[in-house]
Amino acid sequence: LTVTIVEADLARPEHGQAVLDLIDAYAADAFGRGRPLDSSARDALVPGLRAVPTTMILLAYDGSRPVGIATCFRGFSTFAAKPLVNIHDLAVLPSHRGQGIGRQLLDAVEQKARALGCCKVTLEVQEDNRRARRMYEAAGFAQTVYAEGAGGALFFSKPLSPARPVAVRRPESAD
Ligand SMILES: CC(C)(COP(=O)(O)OP(=O)(O)OC[C@H]1O[C@@H](n2cnc3c(N)ncnc32)[C@H](O)[C@@H]1OP(=O)(O)O)[C@@H](O)C(=O)NCCC(=O)NCCS
Repeated sequence: LTVTIVEADLARPEHGQAVLDLIDAYAADAFGRGRPLDSSARDALVPGLRAVPTTMILLAYDGSRPVGIATCFRGFSTFAAKPLVNIHDLAVLPSHRGQGIGRQLLDAVEQKARALGCCKVTLEVQEDNRRARRMYEAAGFAQTVYAEGAGGALFFSKPLSPARPVAVRRPESAD
């Protein structure tokens, strides 16, 4: 199997299509969200990624067929005062798993991050995703421990629903 890893150029329609197909397949996976993308997300995905200046996407090709993706965003560590790369999605088509493609994508992200002068590569993985965890651990990733004896990092989030409008006072009405 000859795998080629390329950085996606989202101005190219074939790269945009590859990103859409691979993210859709990942969304449908049990370790994605178990169902494909909604049509609104399908329409907005590539233009949205193009509008984000820190987007960095690597695609894995088996010949001319796109089979794997690492969607990353550049970030910045204030304490190290250096950029970082966050891996937001890493996925390989089910037909192509177990052949080293995931690891090749991971290694390519690391190489890219080093070239950008980054201090680290970050990612989140589901606790029960043993396959992905094994791959990350074999590549040198470990759960973040911020301080001695403080345990690992907890990932917090707050979904923002448009359903509940929040009253915002206009500046001129503030006293
Ligand atoms: C996780 C995923 C990206 C791995 O890609 P892959 O191409 O299958 O992985 P690789 O073949 O490069 O294997 C890398 C390592 O993963 C582990 N691994 C691979 N297949 C495995 C399996 N069936 N069981 C357990 N570990 C496995 C091994 O440690 C392997 O290294 P090794 O071959 O030296 O033993 C792929 O399985 C996938 O797309 N899963 C669904 C999406 C997902 O869970 N993404 C991660 C979100 S954080």
